[in-house]
Amino acid sequence: MILKILSIESSCDETSVAIVEDRTVLSNIVATQIEEHKIYGGVVPEIASRRHTESIAATCDKALAEAGLTYKDIEAVAVTFAPGLIGALLVGVNFAKALAFSLGVPLIPVHHLRSHIAANYLAHPDLEPPFLCLLVSGGNTVIAEVSDYTKFKIIGSTLDDAAGECFDKTARSMGLPYPGGVNLDKIATVADNQRYPLPFPKVSTGEFNFSFSGLKTAVLNLVHNAGQKGEEIDIPVVCATVRQRVCDLLIKNTMSAAEKYGYKKICIAGGVSANSELRRRMEEECKIRNYKLYYPPLKYCGDNAAMVGAQAIYEFKSGNTAGTDLNATATLQIDYR
Ligand code: KG4
Repeated sequence: MILKILSIESSCDETSVAIVEDRTVLSNIVATQIEEHKIYGGVVPEIASRRHTESIAATCDKALAEAGLTYKDIEAVAVTFAPGLIGALLVGVNFAKALAFSLGVPLIPVHHLRSHIAANYLAHPDLEPPFLCLLVSGGNTVIAEVSDYTKFKIIGSTLDDAAGECFDKTARSMGLPYPGGVNLDKIATVADNQRYPLPFPKVSTGEFNFSFSGLKTAVLNLVHNAGQKGEEIDIPVVCATVRQRVCDLLIKNTMSAAEKYGYKKICIAGGVSANSELRRRMEEECKIRNYKLYYPPLKYCGDNAAMVGAQAIYEFKSGNTAGTDLNATATLQIDYR
């Protein structure tokens, strides 16, 4: 069954609409709000909701025009309904409900983290579950077993900050512009454990869990103390040391989980999967163990609607559709259903 799906993403600071048919992207428009949030050093939820409201209809029109289609050609509407900023999600959900109702087509609710994983399906036609996925974004850090397209089991997650949050907050403390993780990755040089003995994140509960708040606090203290003493810090070296510490734990847990559960196919997904060091070292580690590694192209690492459409196909096939009573949810685990 192949459907032309119009998919909508509005969970954070990108308004995105795509038209996807099977695993083929006919169009994918992303209206980003980054410039607007930059002056505040992070996403302002109220501003995000307003900008989604202003741009969603035009983004839809643009996605259809680029695909060479009209609303009449659309056979289903998919939307990110959870998790995310509640006001931002509500814009997409309400627009999608009205659109599906007016076109008389099915409405498919899509979990945001599931769609980050599905970004891999767009780039890798050979990728099929089962596989192990390291999901790293601004709000989540999770290792999940993907036993089928709509069946997930979390085997490790962060006990405090997400990896992306650790990058963003430490970058901001060093004066790097929003979004911090991207800029930290760009300027990072070589880690130096002697000059900056930042802690190696460790977790005592749960074999594959993560914790990044200790590392984040250590960097904030380092920057604060240096500022008080009027000392300069070598920002590219601190960035590299933070990046190394975060990657150490992400990679160690993913490799141990793959070994324990017998996975030879590994995926990385989410905004932080764009990190150059994470990609490079995961490649290295997977090669040593003869694992096959998948990650999305950079254009599908951040929030976009094409990945929502990619996951929607499988949600629809598994009978996951919604009515006009669909609501947005700010927090929801990937294995909710
Ligand atoms: O998945 P995403 O676009 O949004 C969420 O659903 O959270 O992830 C955004 C996160 C931000 O924390 C951003 O700083 C981080 O991904 N990020 C990176 C890189 N590119 C994006 N972190 C480290 N290195 C990068 N190259």
